[in-house]
Amino acid sequence: MTDQATTAERTTKPPVTPYELAGGAEGLRRLVARFYAIMDSAPEAAGIRAMHGPDLGPVSNSLFEYLSGWLGGPALYVERTGSVCLTAPHRPFAIGEAERDQWLFCMRQAMVDVGFPEETRKLFDGPFFAIADFVRNR
Ligand code: HEM
Repeated sequence: MTDQATTAERTTKPPVTPYELAGGAEGLRRLVARFYAIMDSAPEAAGIRAMHGPDLGPVSNSLFEYLSGWLGGPALYVERTGSVCLTAPHRPFAIGEAERDQWLFCMRQAMVDVGFPEETRKLFDGPFFAIADFVRNR
C-alpha cells in the first residue's frame, strides 16, 4: 500500500527542478529583465555595462534562453545556437574577477528584487558563482 502510494505520488508530483523554483519561463523573464536593468543603472556594474551594446534586448533574450536550459527547463539556447559553450561568445571581452563579481552583483540583487525566497537564492548562489567564474578568461 505504502509503496503504491509512493509510486502514485512520484508520477503525479515530479521533483521540483531549479527551473520551477525560479518560477518557470515567467519567473526567469522577470529575473533576466531585472538583471539587465540593474546592469544598465548600477554604478557597481558600470564596467561590464560598457562591454555590452546599447540595446540589451538581444542579450537579455539569450541569457533567458541559456538559463532556461541550465536550470533544467526547455533547452532554448542550445536549440537555437547548437551549443551551450559560453567561452566563444565571451572571448572578445576581458573578463577577470572584477567583471565576474560585477555580474554576480547584478544577479544577486536581481534575485532579491524579483522576490526569490532566501532559500532559493542560497541554493542558486554557488552554481551562479561557478558558472560566472568559468566565464572568466583572465
Ligand atoms: C562573468 C561575467 C560576465 C560578463 C562580463 C559577461 C559579458 C557578456 C557580454 C559583454 C556579452 C555580449 C553582449 C552583447 O553582444 O552586447 C555576453 C553575452 C552573453 N552572455 Fe555573458 N557575461 C558574463 C557571464 C555570463 C554568464 C555567467 C552567463 C550564463 C549563465 C552568460 C551568458 C551570456 C549569453 C547567453 C550571451 C549571449 C551569447 C550569444 O551571443 O549567443 N554570461 N556576456
